[in-house]
Amino acid sequence: MKKKIGILTGGGDCPGLNPAIRGCVYGAEKYGYECVGLTDGWRGLVEGTTTPLSREITEYIVMKGGTMLGTSRTNPYKAEGSVQKCLETFKRLDLYALVAMGGDDTLGVATKLYRDYKLNVVGVPKTMDNDLSVTDYTFGFDTSVTHAMEAAQSLLDTGASHHRVMVLEVMGRHAGWVALYTGIAAAADYVCIPERAINTPDMIRKIKDAYARKKYALVVTSEAAELPEAGEGASKREVDQFGHAILKDRGMGERIAAFIEKNTGIETRSAVIGHMQRGGAPTLFDRMLATRVGLKAADLVHAGQFGQMSALVNNKITGVPLESATGALKVVSKEWFDLMEVLF
Ligand code: F6P
Repeated sequence: MKKKIGILTGGGDCPGLNPAIRGCVYGAEKYGYECVGLTDGWRGLVEGTTTPLSREITEYIVMKGGTMLGTSRTNPYKAEGSVQKCLETFKRLDLYALVAMGGDDTLGVATKLYRDYKLNVVGVPKTMDNDLSVTDYTFGFDTSVTHAMEAAQSLLDTGASHHRVMVLEVMGRHAGWVALYTGIAAAADYVCIPERAINTPDMIRKIKDAYARKKYALVVTSEAAELPEAGEGASKREVDQFGHAILKDRGMGERIAAFIEKNTGIETRSAVIGHMQRGGAPTLFDRMLATRVGLKAADLVHAGQFGQMSALVNNKITGVPLESATGALKVVSKEWFDLMEVLF
């Protein structure tokens, strides 16, 4: 009888999950395993809900956004008895190994299941936020930033026509990578990220200078940036099962736009790209990275290297300990601040 590998995708979806599932299924079948999908993240393992997976089923998902397995932000360590249910499902489905695809939260659970129960778990890193440690990039980021960059360029067109300041709010949660890359790639005049408190006099001066030069300006802000004048901090907000502040309705773009208009006297508009940046067909980069880390996950299972995650390190796909990748987020570091000073 063939050994069975369960695959799940957890946390916020992102483009690249389907190619990663496909890569893992192809790799696993090459070694003679069969695969089964657990639906909707860790909830699938808690409740034992599955969907079939095979080379035929996954053949044409490489170009599709989202995840064919569904996802959720379920944290089995948050609900009494859920971890036990995960272990029971693993046994009942007669799984040999589990491949968990996710960001810091999903892989944090995988790390604990390996640490606490020596479960045969392997991780695959994904997130549009690109904030997972150890891996150079996570798939999903490239596609999301590409969408955000295109949105920013559209704002530039209309901003230039109406002689306005345009503010684009992007996602990225606790990390400013999406805002930073979008701002650089779309020639923004100012970028606001959560890692660096906004120096409001500096921002206003730079926007006024840019406006004086060309009669429009573009600002990109992360949803989690803090405007010192705005008062409310992210810490007061509703949190999800992993303790992260839910940032929806925070209106960072709107707040910054109002602040800019008040302090410059220039007509300012804001736009939020929101979940649109998280959907759609994955870019070539994300298809390739996702396929490669998915394939590597099957290699790690076959080699019995559990408690590991496939990662992109110095442009090579390799296995790294899950615990080294989870726990501490990779956020925008000081060296990038210098670059921001040059560019914005
Ligand atoms: O972690 C990915 C992400 O898109 C963040 O950038 C964002 O803050 C969050 O998920 C949004 O979560 P949800 O889809 O649950 O609203």
